[in-house]
Amino acid sequence: MSRTLVNEDEPAHMKRRRVLMDSFNPENLEQHQDSVRKLTRQYMDRLIDKGKVDLVAEMFWEIPLMVALHFLGVSGEDIDRLREFSVAHTVNTWGRPSPDEQLSVAHSVGKFWQAAGRIIKKMNANPDGPGWMHHTIRQHKLYPEIVTESYLHSMMMAILVAAHETTSNAAANAIRLLLTHRKAWQEICENPNLIPNAVEECLRIEGSVVAWRRRATRDTQIHGVDIPADARLLIVLASANHDERQFENPDEVDLYRENTTDHLTFGYGSHQCMGKNIARMELRIFLEEFTRRLPHLEIVPDQEFSYLPNTSFRGPSSLWVQWDPKLNPERSDPALLKKHHHFQIGSPSKDEITRRIEVTEVHNECDDVVRLVLKTPNSQTLPKWSPGSHIDLIIDGFNRKYSLCGSPSRKTSYEIVILKEPQGKGGSVHIHDKVKIGQLAQIVGPKNHFRLDESAAEYILIAGGIGITPIIAMADRLKLLGKKYIIHYAGKSKSSMAMREKLMLNHAGHLKMYSKQDGERLSLNVTTRDVNEGQQVYACGPERLLDELETIGADWPENMLHMERFSSQNSALNPDDEHEFNVMLKDSDIIVRVKADQTILDALLSIGIDAPHDCKEGICGTCEVPVLDGKIDHRDHVLTNKEKNSLDRMMTCCSRAKGSDIVIAM
Ligand code: FES
Repeated sequence: MSRTLVNEDEPAHMKRRRVLMDSFNPENLEQHQDSVRKLTRQYMDRLIDKGKVDLVAEMFWEIPLMVALHFLGVSGEDIDRLREFSVAHTVNTWGRPSPDEQLSVAHSVGKFWQAAGRIIKKMNANPDGPGWMHHTIRQHKLYPEIVTESYLHSMMMAILVAAHETTSNAAANAIRLLLTHRKAWQEICENPNLIPNAVEECLRIEGSVVAWRRRATRDTQIHGVDIPADARLLIVLASANHDERQFENPDEVDLYRENTTDHLTFGYGSHQCMGKNIARMELRIFLEEFTRRLPHLEIVPDQEFSYLPNTSFRGPSSLWVQWDPKLNPERSDPALLKKHHHFQIGSPSKDEITRRIEVTEVHNECDDVVRLVLKTPNSQTLPKWSPGSHIDLIIDGFNRKYSLCGSPSRKTSYEIVILKEPQGKGGSVHIHDKVKIGQLAQIVGPKNHFRLDESAAEYILIAGGIGITPIIAMADRLKLLGKKYIIHYAGKSKSSMAMREKLMLNHAGHLKMYSKQDGERLSLNVTTRDVNEGQQVYACGPERLLDELETIGADWPENMLHMERFSSQNSALNPDDEHEFNVMLKDSDIIVRVKADQTILDALLSIGIDAPHDCKEGICGTCEVPVLDGKIDHRDHVLTNKEKNSLDRMMTCCSRAKGSDIVIAM
């Protein structure tokens, strides 16, 4: 066998990867969702009334294999020929077979090779056929020196193994992990939006690829450790996935973990798993079908788990589960069978990591301002938050960001304050007019892009209108810390200024209020005239106020001015004013074309690259990437002028290349 994509070096590797990766792009994978769903349902139908099964034997061994064969374009009796061989290949490559086993493994691998050859020959006669192997054969004809004849053979075998066992193991690991963490299982039963993130969390905690072998191609150093050229490395991905420097409480199952997709189960850079989005698709569909049709599934207690002895792939060889078929929800509600969730291909969208909440109090705060108290339906503990944090509230089809106020020490409730904006897009008006106590909704977060640096000696807090909400939480915290601070709070009229009384009560002596109706005006120049190095300025309010402050603070030292924007006026792209350019991803050795009507982030996501992001408006900083070469057209509100001038980083969701090329580390 030749080396294949997974273990070959440059320059051959990337040339081939470029020629062969098209079918793995998210838009080309969408067409497979229905067949994976159909297959999963067929297998579920067979076991639904049994009450007790080994899920590996009954389902998880078969479906990923069938999906892999379908993806390759193998059909008919060829499916049966190929399905017997892939285990032998794993033991041969990654295990430590005994001398007798080596003989039988060698025979099986030989037969696998022959069968693959016969099938490729057949496919050659039908070059327009469907599936990745037919595509690879066509590419072989176009680029015979890049995709050689022997390479076709090797890839047929390697892809089958890569796509089959890793996904089978991952499915068994995921179901086992979630059933032994019943709260997490219950949460995804109640809220299928969490499934994509649950899949990533399972891949992180109990990934099916735990280690990988590599050889150093040159002398290098990692964290002060010398690695000589030609050193053999065993890279223990499972260890990285539990690294407490990267993941908070790494051994806990946290379905709301924001950075769970940082796991290395799919690898990183130019060798990142090409089939990761097929695996994700299968695992999401499995979890969705099981949680909807068998929410009462349990793991059979006291069973022993055994594993195929090898260095890299991990998953139990059997997984016994049980349930009472009389309690299957579809018996009383057959309509359940028709419903299902559709998941977008690719890494989970942050917006899907939602938590169910209930509105438990509604208070009229002042003119056109309401304050809502939110709790989970079971009054469970909510995640901690800090001053400056916000949540995304998803209610009746509207999705809006609101700063948290109230006390961070309250563990089971959040408070938000909402201004009615008749000129807005309708969300605030809907909440004011329609939302009542008992209404259910969802939230994403909390997240904090406006964090209070508690190390400064003194603080100037500036709020315009409803921008008081994060500012009051900061003031409360500074008071608690015994810091020196002053609040400048401007509004249209006294009766429209939210939380006035609370501020006067708790922050008297630190508060200056400006009511336009009474002829009082907040002058930012005056307020910040004597600002000095020991101070920090935090501001939230209308765009106009923040833009003016940004101009005033342009020459202030780094990290002195902090502003919270909930939306960016200048983030919309006008393709007529833009140009196309190339982004080179240095670590992955990929060049991505960014069209005039696309952001860099969109271009990366469209080809299946897991690029971190959140706001997509240049206001949160999540999509920042190091820039290695090329001129940047900065358009974000995150970086300071000094940082922008250093030309070493950019926000991929809005900033662009000034010229025709830019190189980023990714
Ligand atoms: Fe928030 Fe880019 S995703 S700044």
